[in-house]
Amino acid sequence: MVEQKLIDPALIPAHVAIIMDGNGRWAQQKKRPRLYGHKVGVESVQEVVECAGELGVKVLTLYAFSSENWKRPGVEVNGLMGLLKSYLLSEISKMLKNRIRLVTIGDTEKLPQDVREVLEKTIAETADNDGLTLNLALSYGGRLEIVRAVREIAAEVLADDLSLDEINESLISNHLFTAALPEPDLLIRTGGEARLSNFLLWQASYAEIYFTDTMWPEFRRQSFLQAIAEYQRRERRFGRTSAQLGSG
Ligand code: IPE
Ligand code: IPE
Ligand code: MG
Repeated sequence: MVEQKLIDPALIPAHVAIIMDGNGRWAQQKKRPRLYGHKVGVESVQEVVECAGELGVKVLTLYAFSSENWKRPGVEVNGLMGLLKSYLLSEISKMLKNRIRLVTIGDTEKLPQDVREVLEKTIAETADNDGLTLNLALSYGGRLEIVRAVREIAAEVLADDLSLDEINESLISNHLFTAALPEPDLLIRTGGEARLSNFLLWQASYAEIYFTDTMWPEFRRQSFLQAIAEYQRRERRFGRTSAQLGSG
């Protein structure tokens, strides 16, 4: 593919996380209901998942529904839940064919029963796949994730199973929803806002952040490749100087 020539195959980010924003405004610009934007946004999900798999990205985390999104009008919440369910039902065969493994982060117990059932079934059926890990953030909030971790750790201390000096960064990481996943290398937010909206607060500490005005329903293969190309131009210094990186 022509546009993929921009991309250095040796520098593919292992974990890309995306805040898929702008569906509602995109639809409203077109004088359509917000849900229309979410529907077209599913097509962007399909393209970006496919492209990430082809590039050899290991983990793609998609922020699909935040812990704060429950505050939206009931019709929109229900519409989003319906789209999630139909997406899972329609994609399962493609996930099996492309060896995609589905996982989730977030307080998924809050999701409606029928959605949870489809979700659990898809997770189980794709568990042994060794291709792209597609990680859906559902009813996810970075702060609630940290509160959960602190409670679990405190309980272990109270039970005398853990001492205070055993509490370190890796122990905390291991109590997050993302325990089994690498940290995001590239975090993309579409839709023009420059904020994290409670997404991966701990994990994104050294992610390269890429903001774009493109609304999610229009963020397709080409836009994704552009984001990867921009990531590849960045110098990740992790606190060091350029000269230090040069000398290894
Ligand atoms: C992102 O698009 C999708 C979800 C939050 C579920 P929005 O629905 O936030 O779209 P805007 O930001 O209102 O345009
Ligand atoms: C963040 O988008 C959540 C998702 C993309 C799922 P929002 O549209 O909910 O974020 P805010 O409210 O503008 O910060
Ligand atoms: Mg939004």
